[in-house]
Amino acid sequence: MLRVLAFFVLGLLRLEGSEGQGCVTKHQVMSAVRQMQKVLSTQEATYLQGVRNMKKQLTMLQSELQKQASKSNDSCPALAAPVNGKKLGRKAVVGHEVHFLCEPGYQLIGSESRTCQDNRTWTGQQPHCKTVVSTTPTMRSRAWVTNSPFSRQPRCAESGGSRQCTCDSGFLIKAGGLCQDVDECELFQINRQNRICIYECINTPGSYRCTCPSGYLLNTEINSCEDVDECAKNEHNCSLSEMCINVYGGFQCVRPECPKPRLNTSYVKTSNYQCERNPCPMDSKACRLAANSISYHYLPLHSNRSVPKVLFTMSTSHTMGDSLRFAIVGGTGHSALAVERSDRYTGVLTLNSPVTGPATIEVELEMIEMSRKTLLGRHIFHVTIFVSQYDF
Ligand SMILES: *[C@@H]1O[C@H](CO)[C@@H](O)[C@H](O)[C@H]1NC(C)=O
Ligand SMILES: *[C@@H]1O[C@H](CO)[C@@H](O)[C@H](O)[C@H]1NC(C)=O
Ligand SMILES: *[C@@H]1O[C@H](CO)[C@@H](O)[C@H](O)[C@H]1NC(C)=O
Ligand SMILES: *[C@@H]1O[C@H](CO)[C@@H](O)[C@H](O)[C@H]1NC(C)=O
Ligand SMILES: *[C@@H]1O[C@H](CO)[C@@H](O)[C@H](O)[C@H]1NC(C)=O
Repeated sequence: MLRVLAFFVLGLLRLEGSEGQGCVTKHQVMSAVRQMQKVLSTQEATYLQGVRNMKKQLTMLQSELQKQASKSNDSCPALAAPVNGKKLGRKAVVGHEVHFLCEPGYQLIGSESRTCQDNRTWTGQQPHCKTVVSTTPTMRSRAWVTNSPFSRQPRCAESGGSRQCTCDSGFLIKAGGLCQDVDECELFQINRQNRICIYECINTPGSYRCTCPSGYLLNTEINSCEDVDECAKNEHNCSLSEMCINVYGGFQCVRPECPKPRLNTSYVKTSNYQCERNPCPMDSKACRLAANSISYHYLPLHSNRSVPKVLFTMSTSHTMGDSLRFAIVGGTGHSALAVERSDRYTGVLTLNSPVTGPATIEVELEMIEMSRKTLLGRHIFHVTIFVSQYDF
């Protein structure tokens, strides 16, 4: 686009110069500037419209791809690289494209790119590489080349007796004088640190696009996968008696329940995630030693989250005692987790080694309130950590 504009502007200036026979009047320059402004605003409007259309199409494509990705097995059979050529793109998942290139001196016959379709078959025909006899393209091959999305004819201009050729952005000029698409995915996706897509990259003529696994939506502005809040959007299937917990890439249905009455001790549900002990009968030591409150906490966590990370903070709202003690008293995630006091009335649960998802870790924490060495109260926190499959 910019290149086209630049040509236009240069053309205008050259035109003015020749008409004025070396003497450009102020009026002529003004009219050229006005013309240029008009051209620029028209171009701008067209460009913006183009971008809007492209964005719309990308969004549609995205939702289509996500629908497909949620199906169980969605791979096409593996494709081989042609002899004397190579295949770009390793993925054989529905919606993906692979591209074929031939070595210099060979010409690709057949499909230059093939897409894995919904019914797990590839579009097009398996290509092969044919030896090229003459180096200047014939009419036949020229037509073939212009139709092919991954290589294009350069745009050339004669200026001052020399020929200057340029390619569209995303294309590079190759030995044969053709513009060949740059596979951004192949170039930039290998290294984790500076990958261009956080999940998958699909090469397209002149560009690339990113996709996200199901449960995420692509943010096209920053090419990042953003978690869909299924609970907020009511896209979950939890029953009425269950609570929906949004986690990275999905949701979980949970049903926190108070312990059954036992040894004169019973609990009442005071909120969706909290149980309080009922008053103890006289002389029941077991009841007085049982936890005063039990609360349930559900935390989403990225796979391979950097550590240390504070996951959870505990404190009491009504501190009567003179000290609090914290401990892990049960659960499955002891090795990666630790609990400690952060100040007089607060304890924290920290993650100390990275956890690779998908995984669910449960841990039971105890907070004891003491006053001059006598027990004032015991509070239990049931913490469930849902570790996602991906690190986003
Ligand atoms: C999916 O299908 C492909 C080819 O059809 C096969 O190679 C692969 O093992 C299948 N995967 C599963 C999980 O069934
Ligand atoms: C797969 O789908 C494409 C288009 O949707 C169709 O042209 C092709 O015949 C189908 N192939 C098979 C084996 O069903
Ligand atoms: C709820 O949806 C999940 C997938 O999101 C599925 O695995 C599960 O079987 C569904 N449960 C019910 C009860 O429909
Ligand atoms: C239950 O309470 C009764 C009195 O209400 C008492 O006699 C009994 O010992 C208590 N049981 C336990 C296990 O504390
Ligand atoms: C976890 O993260 C570290 C560095 O942050 C990285 O080197 C490693 O490859 C990651 N592992 C996985 C399975 O993602």
